[in-house]
This record gives sequence, structure tokens and C-alpha cells, in this order.
Amino acid sequence: MFAHIPAYAGDPILSLMEAYQADSRRQKANLSIGLYYDDDGRIPVLGSVGAAVLQLAEQHGPHTYLPMEGMAPYRHALQQLVFGSDSPALKEKRVATIQSVGGSGALRIGAEFLKLYFPGCAVWISDPSWENHQVLFAGAGVAVHTYPYYDPQTNGLRFGEMLATIRGLPARSVVLLQPSCHNPTGIDLSREQWAELIEVLRQHGLIPFLDMAYQGFGHGLEEDAWPVRALVDAGVSFLVSNSFSKNFSLYGERCGGLSVVTPNEDEANRVLGQLKAAVRRVYSSPPLHGARLISTVLCDPALAGQWAAEVAQMRERIARMRRSLRERLEASLPGAPFDYLTTQRGMFSYTGLSGPEADCLREAHGVYVLRSGRLCVAGLNDTNLEHVAHAMATVLRARC
Ligand code: LMR
Repeated sequence: MFAHIPAYAGDPILSLMEAYQADSRRQKANLSIGLYYDDDGRIPVLGSVGAAVLQLAEQHGPHTYLPMEGMAPYRHALQQLVFGSDSPALKEKRVATIQSVGGSGALRIGAEFLKLYFPGCAVWISDPSWENHQVLFAGAGVAVHTYPYYDPQTNGLRFGEMLATIRGLPARSVVLLQPSCHNPTGIDLSREQWAELIEVLRQHGLIPFLDMAYQGFGHGLEEDAWPVRALVDAGVSFLVSNSFSKNFSLYGERCGGLSVVTPNEDEANRVLGQLKAAVRRVYSSPPLHGARLISTVLCDPALAGQWAAEVAQMRERIARMRRSLRERLEASLPGAPFDYLTTQRGMFSYTGLSGPEADCLREAHGVYVLRSGRLCVAGLNDTNLEHVAHAMATVLRARC
């Protein structure tokens, strides 16, 4: 019956995670998947989340279904975090928000919604983008194209070409953008560049779809959401997906959200209804536990403050690891440019390492990075740093 089913080639990110786990070498470093490890090399349980776990254990509520759109206090807290507590769009009740199964679930429900109500629309993603963006949209039947983004010559942004491409798109094309901590490059637009881009999006009737998976890991919780707020201020209608996997260190609980900003409350209500219908079609209703944890934290001012401080600690540790790796590489390979490590932001850096060089790092040194050259800086710590820097320098020296 299933003889015609082809073997799965594997996922470029998740397969490396499996290979890392199966690697029996003592000296190894997992810098492939986007996981934040603490100084001791462990995936942290945040103190604020631990306190919420204890509170929920005492309450021991029933495990009932959530509504299709998710838990009300979770959705409310999510909106405050993504849009800001004084957002005019929230005050005017013109944002439709659902709880989603992680950031990926938000992207998929958004894609389903766009496919149905903007038939024939295509999505434009950055070149390069997170590997799963292409797959998620294509899986929903939305054609996927790319706009220029990364410049391998300068390890920077091709902003002029990016803007020119977006300016040339037909109205109602979907443009996928990452507000901060761009995955996979770590290269973000400046506020001036965002302002220019938003004007193009507005004038040309394009549909921005912001994917915010790392809020708080770049410059701060508020700062990283600046482009979301700037789009609201510009009066643009758009979608924004967000994920709590990283900033709550709750990867396996699959907590995220999808919000659609509309011109008025009536449209928001109708959009919300259709998002609920899409959820019902795909998985019926979202899971309960992670949403309970996150709303317990965010709805308690003391726990919310503790969580914000914990996000700041993670952000600062990532920045410190960026500086330390740069220092070590500059000492090993004087004259070679490593400043990109400290100008890029968030969990990831695009190193310029080729696929065979990434293979060599993994096979010879037990250092796992993606074959695209993406390195997860958040997987570095004081224990593995020296080894990683030495391995990278060895591979890069062989190139010269
Ligand atoms: C990543 O980019 O490594 C993360 O977002 C995890 C994933 O699902 O790919």
C-alpha cells in the first residue's frame, strides 16, 4: 500500500539536532537549532515560569478544551506585549488575535487565511530566510518567492535591492518580514530603513506579515517590537505572528499567537471569526498548559517583572558570547573580519561558512552549525567557547 512513499530527506535544522543528540563525543557544541542554553549548557527553566508551574500545580484545574481562538487572558497579555499597552489599534479594538501552536502554527493559520481570502496571492520572503518559512507557506498552497536581503560580500544588508524588489510587487502581495533578530542572518533593518520600507508597503497596497520569534533577544522587549508599532502608526493593515518558545524558554509547549491588524472593529471581528474557522479546520483548538503558564506570569505584575529581567539576562548573555567569540577569532586570525558577530543581533549569526566547512566543523570538531553557515550564538557558553573558536579558526585557516 505504501510502497510508493519516498523516504524523507530530513529537515535541515531538526535532523542536525537528532545527529547532535546521537553524537557520543564528549566535546561537542550544539549551535545548529535555535535553542538558548545557559552558562552551564542547560536549557533554562525560568524562575518566573517555575513559580507559575507551582501555582498551577496547587490549583489543579480541569483539562477542558480551550476555545478555538485560545485563552482570553493569554490573548490579552500577548496583545499588550506585541503592540504595547497604549496601542491605538488595541484601544480601537481592531486587532484580531488568536493563540497559536507556536510561531509555526501562527504562520500556517495565517497562510491558510491568506490563501482563502486573497486567492492567487504570493508571499515574498527574504533571501535567505528561516528554512521553514518556504515550506509552511507552500504547504498551504501559497506561492513563495524571495526578495534580496543578505550580502555575502559585506556580511550586511542589500537594502536598496530589497526595497526595489518590494516596490515592484503587485498590490496585495504578502511580504514576510522579521521585526528583529533576523533568522538566519542576525541582520536587522535600522529604524530609518523600516520607515522607508513601511512607506513602500503602504503606498503599494502590500500585505506585511511580520514574524516575531525572538522578542527581547535583540535590544529589548519594547525595542524589538518597534516595527510592529510603526506599522500601526502608519495606518497599515497587516499580520503578525509571535512565538514564546525562546523568550519563555518553553519550546515544547508550543505557545505563540497570530494577530491581524484591521482598519476597524467590525473587520477585526469578521477576521477573528475566519481565523477561528481555520483553527477548527486544522487542529480544532490550541493546547492549554503553556497558555496557562504564560498568562499566569504575564498577568501577575511581580512575575511579569521577574520574567522581563530574565529575558534581559538571556539577551545580555548572548551579547557577551558574541563579543567573546569575536575576540577569540580576531586573536587567532588577525585581519579577518569578525565584526559582524557583534553588529548582528539575536540568537543567530550568518558566518559565511560554506556547507562543506560546516560539515568539517561537525565531523572533525563536534561543532554543529547549519550547512547554510548559520550559527546559534545562544548555544555558546564559557565552557565550549574556546573549543568552538579554535574549531572555526582551524576551518577558516584551511580556506586561506
Ligand atoms: C530554528 O530556526 O532553529 C528554530 O526556529 C527552531 C526550528 O523549529 O527550526
